[in-house]
Amino acid sequence: MADERTFIMIKPDGVQRGLVGNIISRFESRGYQLIAMKFQLATKQILEKHYEEHISKPFFPSLLKFMLSGPVVPMVWQGKDVVKQGRAMLGQTNPLTSAPGTIRGDFGIVMQKNLVHGSDSVESAKREIAIWFQDSELTHWKPAQNAWIYE
Ligand code: PPS
Repeated sequence: MADERTFIMIKPDGVQRGLVGNIISRFESRGYQLIAMKFQLATKQILEKHYEEHISKPFFPSLLKFMLSGPVVPMVWQGKDVVKQGRAMLGQTNPLTSAPGTIRGDFGIVMQKNLVHGSDSVESAKREIAIWFQDSELTHWKPAQNAWIYE
């Protein structure tokens, strides 16, 4: 469905390395539609909700410290199969196994500094969007270009 949504977040390393424009451009060029975007410092509270399933993992304290080390860019993108295709555009969690052409495969080297987060399922996307955005912050609009992207 063209109205599927995913949550994509540029992490502090992506911001510090000046890759915000490049990452957004990839989603725009693919034909996906931007629904919401912020530029902010995350908080421990929001990150504990976002990474709920990883709180007890050994890497969590270091992941938290990293995610609090600078601004992030949380976004909502919409389009057909955007959850699955968004993950494909990101590459694997570990940049080492990410193919060239993916964001992590083009710009990343180590696991933690993997530049960008993307929801792994439609259910996770709904949960993550609700953590970072209020309903009123999601913009409802129909891009004219959709007629040239979808059948
Ligand atoms: S797991 O354990 O397989 O469920 O983890 P995974 O889904 O691959 O990764 C979850 C997020 O944790 C980050 N991560 C790490 N950070 C630091 N060090 C290590 N070793 C590590 N392993 C995983 C990883 O970047 C994922 O972040 P997101 O934002 O979801 O991409």
